[in-house]
Amino acid sequence: MSYETILVETIGAVTRITLNRPQALNALNSAVLRELIAAFRAFDADATQRCAILTGSEKAFAAGADIKEMQGQSFADMYGGNFFYGYEAVTATRKPWIAAVSGFALGGGCELAMMADFIIAGDNAKFGQPEIKLAVTPGMGGSQRLTRAIGKAKAMEMCLTGRMMGAVEAEAAGLVARVVPAAELQAEALKSAEAVAAMAPLAAMAAKEMVNAAFETTLAQGINFERRLFHGLFGSADQKEGMAAFVEKRPGVWSGQ
Ligand code: CAA
Repeated sequence: MSYETILVETIGAVTRITLNRPQALNALNSAVLRELIAAFRAFDADATQRCAILTGSEKAFAAGADIKEMQGQSFADMYGGNFFYGYEAVTATRKPWIAAVSGFALGGGCELAMMADFIIAGDNAKFGQPEIKLAVTPGMGGSQRLTRAIGKAKAMEMCLTGRMMGAVEAEAAGLVARVVPAAELQAEALKSAEAVAAMAPLAAMAAKEMVNAAFETTLAQGINFERRLFHGLFGSADQKEGMAAFVEKRPGVWSGQ
């Protein structure tokens, strides 16, 4: 499939999706959303692909939802049309994916990065929810995911003042998993994605599902959910292979079964 606003490459078992609207600092318009949904669905459906990276340019992961597209919309257009509906399809991706963030990740850009299973940031990354400066608010999950990631104090401050948070602060606050020199971002993200892609795919999918369940359940429900998925993996050929390989002191070879 060919895309206009994103680039999609496969590197072994890793799919790299690059936001590609440089003239608008990768602002997220309806075409980007449509193409992201298609690209993530294709990644999920392709048995040869095990982990994805979503990235942008060095200057901008994405500078937000496309202000020029939204500018003239009415309440009826936005509410009636359920604007931003569709990002659920991105977060419904069952295989793991990583956001590799360089430069600006603002508004919808920060919100899209937070949809990833984890974020690796270049040391030049800047995160923010500046929508308040446009007399609106986050609309793609920022008030919820940012608050869960970094807590009320910092999330509230960012949503109310629109200030940007640098990579070092974002790592200390728990928003990003790791900060790397900007020049090494793509290589480091690829290394992480290849590490994930090398794991038994059912276990990787289960690990993702159970960590995400922590945001939706009570502790007791979440622990029970984890245990049932853990038990379920004992029905997989890869569990037999993984444990045999450990005992026999050799690397495991996964069938995905
Ligand atoms: N939407 C549409 N176009 C955008 C954009 C956006 N979010 N962000 C940048 N652009 C465009 C600019 O209009 C400009 O286009 P022109 O050359 O045609 O004028 C081009 O990208 C380059 O941008 P700048 O000249 O502004 O670049 P800069 O380096 O001077 O500044 C910036 C960079 C600080 C990121 C600045 O572009 C900026 O503040 N962008 C908007 C950030 C923002 O408010 N994001 C939130 C959007 S609302 C939202 O996301 C809602 C939600 O919750 C989903």
